[in-house]
Amino acid sequence: MTDLLGLSGRNAIVVGAGRGAGRAMAILFAKAGMHVAVVDQDRSTAAETVRAIEAEGVRGLALVANAIDENELDRAVGDARSALGPLRVGVNNVGNFGAHASSPVLEHGWDFWQTAIDQNLHTCFNVSRTVARRMIDDGVPGALVFIASLAGLRGSPNLAPYGAVKAGVIQFTMTMALELAPHRIRVNCVGPTAIDSPMLRERLTDESIAKRAASIPLGRIASPEDIGGAVLMLASDLAGFVTGQTVMADGGVSCTSQRPSMNPGEARVR
Ligand SMILES: NC(=O)c1ccc[n+]([C@@H]2O[C@H](COP(=O)([O-])OP(=O)(O)OC[C@H]3O[C@@H](n4cnc5c(N)ncnc54)[C@H](O)[C@@H]3O)[C@@H](O)[C@H]2O)c1
Repeated sequence: MTDLLGLSGRNAIVVGAGRGAGRAMAILFAKAGMHVAVVDQDRSTAAETVRAIEAEGVRGLALVANAIDENELDRAVGDARSALGPLRVGVNNVGNFGAHASSPVLEHGWDFWQTAIDQNLHTCFNVSRTVARRMIDDGVPGALVFIASLAGLRGSPNLAPYGAVKAGVIQFTMTMALELAPHRIRVNCVGPTAIDSPMLRERLTDESIAKRAASIPLGRIASPEDIGGAVLMLASDLAGFVTGQTVMADGGVSCTSQRPSMNPGEARVR
């Protein structure tokens, strides 16, 4: 059968693939015939993702690193390159609000901002540098994909640091696309709204999730595979002339005036 995606036999590295959307996209890469290195700070969930990858008949590699630490991440990327060969796709899925309950800016400590910057922007910076340098050394074309959020396009009451840094991820995507274009490396971004991931379930009640689903034009929140599918599309040869773009995988909500993730006056997330 024709490999329309052009991914079969190539190597991917997905950072933050132990669970949630990252695990889903790593498994979708495997289903597309890619060998996949899974990087996560959690060894046991990374190993579980690799078991699912190997069940697709391709190679999987579990690597433990904190993506905020460039040296640790660089070691993991180097190990992936040595074990699998040249990397053609790199994804940063790491991102979250930080370990903070949401709150208005007037109540923030600086650490809320610092953890949001570290978890969302710093990790994209580190993944870009460590993976793109290997692609350039190997002389191969490649694709990088980041994960932003609807929060980066709209006001984010009670989650100002998260909204601001996800807007930064969208902007960083455009700059990296221009800087890496001469090396034939495309850089794109996926912008989800609510994803049915462990992170969401830990922080929101079922009632709050149902309310968000009702405000999304497609009538539901995203599955991890919905986000993985958008990432796969951007990583594939079908998107060979697409770079610097953020694709909103949000059920259409960015086309409306709804702000489902955090409406002002709504109960704060825990
Ligand atoms: N869940 C949502 O509703 C939602 C909505 C919009 C955007 N997003 C974005 O989508 C992406 C995925 O979200 P998710 O809900 O699947 O996340 P998740 O928390 O379920 O999974 C993230 C994975 O990254 C790993 N990780 C976290 N910090 C790390 C670090 N410093 N180094 C290495 N690994 C680390 C975790 O162990 C985990 O396996 C994130 O960038 C998030 O900001 C999520």
